[in-house]
Amino acid sequence: MSDFPEFIKFLYEEYRHLNSGSLASYIPELTKADPNWFAISIVTKEGEIFEIGDHLQNFTIQSISKVFVYGMALEDCDRETLLEKIGVEPTGDPFNSVIRLDENSKRPDNPMVNAGAIATAGLIKGSNATEKLNRMLDMFRRYIGHDVFIDAPVFMSERATGHRNRALANLLLNFDIIENNIEEILDFYFQQCALVVNCHDLAVMAATLANRGINPIAKKQAVKPCYVRDILSVMYTCGMYNYAGEWAYRVGIPAKSGVSGGIIGVIPDRAGIAVFSPLIDSRGNSVRGIKVFEALSDQFNLHLFDSPLPKCSFLDISKNSEELISKPLKVTFDKSKSL
Ligand code: DON
Repeated sequence: MSDFPEFIKFLYEEYRHLNSGSLASYIPELTKADPNWFAISIVTKEGEIFEIGDHLQNFTIQSISKVFVYGMALEDCDRETLLEKIGVEPTGDPFNSVIRLDENSKRPDNPMVNAGAIATAGLIKGSNATEKLNRMLDMFRRYIGHDVFIDAPVFMSERATGHRNRALANLLLNFDIIENNIEEILDFYFQQCALVVNCHDLAVMAATLANRGINPIAKKQAVKPCYVRDILSVMYTCGMYNYAGEWAYRVGIPAKSGVSGGIIGVIPDRAGIAVFSPLIDSRGNSVRGIKVFEALSDQFNLHLFDSPLPKCSFLDISKNSEELISKPLKVTFDKSKSL
């Protein structure tokens, strides 16, 4: 961990001039972002902070909110009830796709794509829209550790242009996944996406998930620990949309992106990482964000399936490791117990 400051400085310098990708324009307000904004933040479960760049620059959380609202729905409904309404299968489709919902399942594939996130929003408990919104803001407050607010122009901009999301909500109503209060549910969804955060906040939120749901700075429980496993599982398989498979292969960290350019990653029991750079690729993932996560994962062996053995071929492994590999297995196969 002592190498983090030097390495993130190196990554910041390495990628700050990478200008491929473009600003999200389908929500008009998001085009006001500065394409040069760039920040990397790491918060460990002990509360250590390493960050560089525009880590205090505010932006809207967008799809990264889906992770945390899903956690709220798990607490409100429990795992099995939620699974009846929203699956946990990756789609391989764009985040805002309508097709699969109609053609295949009649139930959203997972809570990270828009269909599943809108269905999740419809399951949040509260006697009216204000109570639901206040519960959502309280939840984010626990993760972030300070007061939170919603960017009204971004909310209004998405509300005015979110025709695809409105189409998804109508299909969800048709399949009895949500109730007949579509505009209220969509408002909740647009509000969660318009929550204002900065890169530092996102790293604290990710670190909270790394720390069994306890915010490592404020030392407060943000989500019940029993649901952290569920949240991280859908992040791992579905968090990067139609890049989720390649992300799992190359980076191997449960993660979630948003179209405003944030990506969070959770290293269970160790740290939360956030990168912010608003230039995104065609799948809605930050271009510099992907590069930074790939490099961090590689440099610090953060891939979930990295073995503790040194990264090298079988031919040049150290003597120690060679001994380890050639040790006979301690368990023996008992034929009588097999089929
Ligand atoms: O529903 C939408 O289109 C946006 N509010 C959120 C999309 C998003 O962030 C997708 N992420 N990459």
